Amino acid sequence: MAKIKVELKERSYDIIIGCDNLAELGGLVRDEQWGRDVFIITDPLINDLYGDTVRKGFKTKPKTFEIPRGERYKNLRVAEKLYDDLARVGAHRDSLIIALGGGVIGDLAGFVAATYMRGINYIQVPTTLLAQVDAAIGGKTGVNHPKAKNLIGAFYQPKAVFIDVGTIATLPARELRTGLAEVIKYGVIEDADFFKFLEANAHHLNTKAFENEDTKRAALKLWQTIVTESAKIKAKIVEKDEKEAGLRMILNFGHTVGHAIESLTRYRAYNHGEAVAIGMTAAAMIASGLKLLSADDVKRLKELLDKLGLPTEIKDLPLKKILSPLELDKKVIGGKVNFVLPEKLGKVVIKDDVSLTLVKQVLKEIGAK
Ligand SMILES: NC(=O)c1ccc[n+]([C@@H]2O[C@H](COP(=O)([O-])OP(=O)(O)OC[C@H]3O[C@@H](n4cnc5c(N)ncnc54)[C@H](O)[C@@H]3O)[C@@H](O)[C@H]2O)c1
Repeated sequence: MAKIKVELKERSYDIIIGCDNLAELGGLVRDEQWGRDVFIITDPLINDLYGDTVRKGFKTKPKTFEIPRGERYKNLRVAEKLYDDLARVGAHRDSLIIALGGGVIGDLAGFVAATYMRGINYIQVPTTLLAQVDAAIGGKTGVNHPKAKNLIGAFYQPKAVFIDVGTIATLPARELRTGLAEVIKYGVIEDADFFKFLEANAHHLNTKAFENEDTKRAALKLWQTIVTESAKIKAKIVEKDEKEAGLRMILNFGHTVGHAIESLTRYRAYNHGEAVAIGMTAAAMIASGLKLLSADDVKRLKELLDKLGLPTEIKDLPLKKILSPLELDKKVIGGKVNFVLPEKLGKVVIKDDVSLTLVKQVLKEIGAK
């Protein structure tokens, strides 16, 4: 088991990373006295897979609220339904919410915790790779609005992030890959050795190893290392910039073009990680165009993404349409588009003066029409 502290003064908390440890959560909640009444918010699939194991650890079985699966349910109407549920069962200031699921559940349940009775305790129990390495850490909670994703939300830190790496063994391959894009991102923005480690282990980073018990065990050991290293990097960045005033922006590496592609394809053709993989490729090529990054490093990034089954090219998207959401992207400050660009593997800079000509040239090179 690994424990990583997120140092945020009175809002500090631990990220606890283990394997097959879900049944231990109840004991921890009791020992730490995080809440008198406990409520689990999850979706039907995760509840079927892991709900009983989590509930088993509690002396008094926590009530469980299910919300339907999918990004489109991360909205205010569903949040309101959860407020109704919590009010109906008499949840109060010293109640505790457990967000059991992927990033959608984490963001939504975290937002409900942030706002119900002006804020009650909650714990993130992320069950997707993306949520374990990224979404569950850092206290960004929120819901979508018809005008934009994550438009409504709050920075509200959990009491703990409790990770059972074993849960990723039931993820579909595409969901595992979407998390891997964020893992690779950490290597590029912060840690060249971690990037090298991922290159060396790339052939193991897929769902195949989960198919039989022997290989599954070895694979989960490797995943535990990967989740721990990623969580350390995210925690360090959040500590330095809790509310994304500056440094935390480097976490947006690959997200400028990535978000544009996602919103243009209405979050369907590409999932988040796939769009970020294309966005990271574009950012690396822009950096290379500016002579910040070597061609060899661009090649290494592309090869790693490729080996892990993540796209590095855009299919069938017109250049003009990719550029227009870029202007609306939340990373636009004062009318300028911010690009997070690698100078070498493990180090990035933020630039707001990348020329449109270079952006267009790179987008064309990766397949925009
Ligand atoms: N708060 C943040 O800092 C932050 C950061 C990144 C992303 N996000 C948000 O995270 C969301 C995406 O999260 P996600 O990629 O985890 O997707 P998700 O939450 O939609 O989960 C993907 C699917 O996997 C299923 N699932 C979850 N765990 C499983 C398991 N162990 N086995 C089998 N199936 C499982 C879920 O039922 C769901 O259908 C987006 O809404 C995004 O905005 C938030």
